[in-house]
Amino acid sequence: MDTKKSAATLAEVLANSYALMLKTQAVHWNIVGNQFYGIHNLTEMQYTDLFAAVDEIAERIRTLDEVPPATLQEFSKLNKIAEGSGSGDAREMLSGLIDANKQMGAILREAIDVMDDLDDYGSEDLLVGRLRVHEKATWMLNSVLKEFIATAPIVKPLEKPEEKEEAPKKVEAKKEEVKKEEKAAPKKEASSAEKPAPKVEAKPVEKAPEKPSEKPAAKKEEPAPAERGKRRLFGIDAKG
Ligand SMILES: [Fe+2]
Repeated sequence: MDTKKSAATLAEVLANSYALMLKTQAVHWNIVGNQFYGIHNLTEMQYTDLFAAVDEIAERIRTLDEVPPATLQEFSKLNKIAEGSGSGDAREMLSGLIDANKQMGAILREAIDVMDDLDDYGSEDLLVGRLRVHEKATWMLNSVLKEFIATAPIVKPLEKPEEKEEAPKKVEAKKEEVKKEEKAAPKKEASSAEKPAPKVEAKPVEKAPEKPSEKPAAKKEEPAPAERGKRRLFGIDAKG
């Protein structure tokens, strides 16, 4: 059995598993939104599994009496998984993590074929187990992403069409109200002009009769001169 080739193949799996662990932790730390709690817990389960996996893979290399890579520089030379920005839109982060798990699966399938050719069944069994883990992780992350896609069209179409339909209706309604007000405006002005007018005229009319009422009272006193005339006729005044 070519242990060096087995160790070199395992070292590639180790480095990519380490990179995927960091990528999973980045989602765990920086995910935001309504799905935070589920994704936060799911990614914690996944990076915890990867942390144990890199230890098991490295110790498998030691079991083959080889030395595993143990620095970030060595890992970066062997790593094929894109690190990404580590933050951003929840969908993009989930999609990036799904792609990384699929890529990890592809790396594992190639490594399994190598181990099978080398008759390294111990390493092959380890890697087959890792393949099942990442296939399951892909399924679970995809299920969360599908919920995003399923809920998004339900929310957006209900909000946007209503806003677009209501907006022109409101504008038309306002235009009609303005037209009605413009038409009603002269009527209101005429009616308002008519209403104050009687009030103004009513006051002088009411006051006017009061003064004339005093004059007639004086006219009522006029009979006195008539009586005086009578007295004159009777020659009373002439005598007085
Ligand atoms: Fe945590």
